[in-house]
Amino acid sequence: MSTAPTPEQPLALRTERSSGNGPHAPKRILVLGATSGIAEACVRLWAARGDSLYLVARNADRLAAVAADARTRGAALVDTAVVNLDDTAAHPEMLAHAINSMGGLDIAFLALGVLGDQQQAERNFATASQILHTNFNAPVSLLTWLANYAAQRHAGTLAVLSSVAGERGRKSNYVYGSSKAGLTAFVDGLRNRIDREGVRVITIKPGPVRTAMTENMKGSAKFADVEAVAATLVKVIDKGSDVVYVPGIWRIIMAVIRAIPERIFKKLSL
Ligand SMILES: NC(=O)c1ccc[n+]([C@@H]2O[C@H](COP(=O)([O-])OP(=O)(O)OC[C@H]3O[C@@H](n4cnc5c(N)ncnc54)[C@H](OP(=O)(O)O)[C@@H]3O)[C@@H](O)[C@H]2O)c1
Repeated sequence: MSTAPTPEQPLALRTERSSGNGPHAPKRILVLGATSGIAEACVRLWAARGDSLYLVARNADRLAAVAADARTRGAALVDTAVVNLDDTAAHPEMLAHAINSMGGLDIAFLALGVLGDQQQAERNFATASQILHTNFNAPVSLLTWLANYAAQRHAGTLAVLSSVAGERGRKSNYVYGSSKAGLTAFVDGLRNRIDREGVRVITIKPGPVRTAMTENMKGSAKFADVEAVAATLVKVIDKGSDVVYVPGIWRIIMAVIRAIPERIFKKLSL
């Protein structure tokens, strides 16, 4: 019989330290998908202001480079774990280790995600299923553990990278888009559940940003600069906003896109 922990059980934690008070108190930040272009740029800013960082990614070499850079920039603590986050059974042990390592948790930043191959996903459910697993199931598992941990303590911020792609299904990327639509709905609902417990839950919807994920896309030179996006994210995560479009113009662009009648939308090449 399996003895694996379930989210109803608490994470295996040691004694926690208080995080200190005031807007400039160093934060203990867990970054899931720390080799992401957007996460890396945020890590540079968090490290430079002396925060403690626990960085999780699946590519050991790239993770080591991100961690070494964070140490050079002045992070109070940098610890890492090489984990394939698709392995949801590994989540409770990894999360307990991260929280124990930092003596608590102020911010969890979920940046993992795959764009996937839309055309292949149209032909092969295994491809679609993989995209849905990484972009939806894995974050849902992480957030279930983290939300229960934070709600018990009446503190903490859970910041999640969803996407504007989740706001309307488009023929060019509807498998990725649907994974992000599901994630957005989950994160929004989670906020409605635990905001009253004193936990901030932030749905982040970037428009196109210049990172490895978008480097082969048409027009990528005009996409948002990742350093500017990260500067905005660090601010809104400190503030504990609810739903953030970044760059902010995407709130208006998506309002327009959502308003296009389907009979017209289905004829567009989007
Ligand atoms: N760039 C954009 O235009 C854009 C727009 C809207 C939303 N987003 C979202 O923002 C997030 C970050 O994207 P990005 O632009 O920074 O892309 P990126 O540089 O391609 O980063 C994605 C990261 O997710 C990691 N990852 C994927 N599957 C994983 C797994 N199973 N376990 C652990 N890590 C895994 C990747 O690790 P590996 O390197 O090992 O694959 C990579 O570090 C994603 O959720 C993305 O969907 C991006």
